[in-house]
Amino acid sequence: MTPIDPGRPGAPEPEPEKKLSMGIDPYERNWMRASVLLLVVFFITVTISGFFMGIQVVGADREVDPRIVTDSGPWADPGVREIGPGKYEAYVIAQTWNFEPREIELPVHSEITIYVTSPDLQHGFKVTDTNINMMVVPGQVSKVTFTFDEVGEFPYICHEYCGRGHANMSGIVRVVDSTEDVDNTADGASS
Ligand code: CUA
Repeated sequence: MTPIDPGRPGAPEPEPEKKLSMGIDPYERNWMRASVLLLVVFFITVTISGFFMGIQVVGADREVDPRIVTDSGPWADPGVREIGPGKYEAYVIAQTWNFEPREIELPVHSEITIYVTSPDLQHGFKVTDTNINMMVVPGQVSKVTFTFDEVGEFPYICHEYCGRGHANMSGIVRVVDSTEDVDNTADGASS
């Protein structure tokens, strides 16, 4: 069969196109509506989580130079510090393939702010049985504040694949009964 050349004299007229409202197929129009609605939903979600729930993107806190970060300021001596009654802060370095410190101890019902950075690759910092879950990106500081209201052990792991030793990259938060039980002295001494 030879195709009919529409330009050839005597060829049948091409069929007139179907009349559409606004020139848009109703099926396509519904999808366009759905995608605009989705954008509105996303916008509302991001607005609520960012402005009313305090959820922030990593890097919003501060930036550091990954080449020298372990030599400077609190990062030179990573570990846990008591900064007030019931308030602690921890500076944690995540690097191939361990965390420094590997143990964080604090009394129950205390609030801790954890700062994590990486001098080498992208890592993760996730504390089991909590909603602490951060990416750790070289050059940026990931920050989270959390109150531990239960005595127990809460392992933390790297959950961003970072190479051969990724699976062994872990540490533990120990939440103890009282301030007297807290012992973070060993932390700075490892390695
Ligand atoms: Cu560090 Cu996976």
